[in-house]
Amino acid sequence: MALYSDKVMDHFQNPRNVGKMEDADGIGEVGNAKCGDIMRMYIKVDPETQVITDVKFNTFGCGSAIATSSMATELIKGKPISEALKLSNQAVVEALDGLPTHKIHCSVLAEEAVRAAVKDYFDKNGIPYDKELLACDGHCDTCGHEH
Ligand code: FES
Repeated sequence: MALYSDKVMDHFQNPRNVGKMEDADGIGEVGNAKCGDIMRMYIKVDPETQVITDVKFNTFGCGSAIATSSMATELIKGKPISEALKLSNQAVVEALDGLPTHKIHCSVLAEEAVRAAVKDYFDKNGIPYDKELLACDGHCDTCGHEH
């Protein structure tokens, strides 16, 4: 069996939603404690509906980080913030038909960047939120989240 699924290869070679967003409503930057790689995620939010209307990402991460972020942006685009916050790295990995075990940590970067971008949006707009909900699970100590 190939190490990487066709979907992983597709999202790695043709990543969706790559780039910078000049007028982002929320920007999340996280680092991966395990490998030192960095990810930045930008979101645009409709203030009326709280729907994420656009997403972009930039990463200095590896191929798996690129593929998982690409998939994560597809999964949250057009979704309400409440749903985006439920996105787990496992869901991203499943949507990509799996990742090798030693690459699972790369998918965590995507999940955390989404949460960090939402947190930034909430902070910038004075929207109250449950701090527990946006706290890390303890697997990242370089992301700058409040623990
Ligand atoms: Fe760092 Fe994959 S090895 S994100």
